[in-house]
Amino acid sequence: MSPARAAVLAGWGGALPEQVVTNHEIAARLDTTDEWIRTRTGIRERRKAGPGESTVELAVRAARDALRGGRADAVVLATSTPDQVCPASAPQVAARLGLGTVPAFDVNAVCSGFLYALATAAGFISSGIAQRVLVIGADVFTSLIDPEDRTTVPIFGDGAGALLLRAGDPSESGALGPIDLHSEGEQAELLWVKAGGSRCPVPAEPRERYLVMQGTSVFRQACARMAESSRAVLEQAGWMVGDVDRFVGHQANIRILQATAKQLGLPADAVVANIDRVGNTSAASIPLALADAVAEGTVVPGHKVLLSAFGAGLTWGATLLTWPSLD
Ligand code: UT7
Repeated sequence: MSPARAAVLAGWGGALPEQVVTNHEIAARLDTTDEWIRTRTGIRERRKAGPGESTVELAVRAARDALRGGRADAVVLATSTPDQVCPASAPQVAARLGLGTVPAFDVNAVCSGFLYALATAAGFISSGIAQRVLVIGADVFTSLIDPEDRTTVPIFGDGAGALLLRAGDPSESGALGPIDLHSEGEQAELLWVKAGGSRCPVPAEPRERYLVMQGTSVFRQACARMAESSRAVLEQAGWMVGDVDRFVGHQANIRILQATAKQLGLPADAVVANIDRVGNTSAASIPLALADAVAEGTVVPGHKVLLSAFGAGLTWGATLLTWPSLD
C-alpha cells in the first residue's frame, strides 16, 4: 500500500572541489597509465578537495543549490568521511545553512549512503516528523586513500550532491517510488579501512588508516546486486524495464554501469554517466550525477529514472521516480 504522504523531489544541487587531477598527473607519479585508467574504469579526471574544502563545506555548497533560497525542516547527510569522527557533520551543515535547530544527523552506508538517506528522509516525511527534508551525499573520500596505492588513487574523487524532498502525493510527478535496501556485513573486508575506528583506534602501521579494496570481487557483486535491486523496485512500482528512460547508477566504474544496464535489458543510452569527470565520489555519486544530467539536459521532466548503488559494507539498493518539472 502506498503511504498517504509521499516524499516528492523539490530541488537538487551539486558541488565539486576546485582542483582537477587528471589521469596523466597520476600516471606521472604511480605505476599506471592514462589508457589503463580510461579503459578499465571510464575515468579521465577527478576532483580533490584542498584546504578548507571539507565534507561540510562541499555539502553546504550542494545544499544551497538544492534549497534555492527555501528552507528544510530536517537534514540527513550521507557520508563516510565526516569532518570529525565525532560528532556527525549534518548539524554543522544545518547551522551553516541557517536552518536553526532542525534535526540533523549523518547516515553511513558508504557508496549506497545516499539511497539509505533518501529512505530515511522519506520515512520522516511519511510519518509526519518533517515536511521538507534536505538529503545530502558528501564525501572527501580521497582522505581515506593511500597516495601510493595505484589500485585506489585513480578511482576515487571528492564531491557533494543534494536533493530536497517535500511532503506530497504519491501520484505526483517527482514522488519517490519503492525503495529496496540491503547489506551483507560478512564481506566487510572486501572494501574497508582497517584502523581509525573503535576496534583499532590507532593504526599499527600507517597504511592501516587507508582504504583497501578487492576490486574484482566488488565489481562482480556490484553488477549482480544493482541489477537484482533494480528489478525489485521495478516490480514493486509496476514498471517494465522498457519504461525506464534513464539509469543513474553509483558511478564506480563505467563498465559496472554498462554491465548492469545490459543485465537489466536497458539500452546503453539509458546509462547516465559523469564518472569520466568526477570518478567515484562515494555517497555524493548519485545526486551529483543527477545534478550534472539535469544541467546537461540528459534527464528532463517526465523521464522515468531508476537509481541504484552498491558499495562498502557491503550495502546496496535501488529506487525510482518520474523526474518532475520544477519552475
Ligand atoms: O564504490 C563502490 C565500490 N567500488 C567499486 O565498485 C570498484 C569495483 N572494481 C573495479 O572497478 C575494478 O575492479 C577496478 C577498476 C578496481 C580494477 O579493474 P579490474 O579489471 O578488476 O582489474 P584487476 O583488479 O583484476 O587488475 C588487473 C590487472 C592486475 O595485474 P595482473 O595481476 O593481471 O598482472 C592489476 O595489478 O591490472 C593491474 N592494475 C593496474 N595496472 C595499471 C591494477 N590497478 C592498476 C592501475 N594501473 N592503476
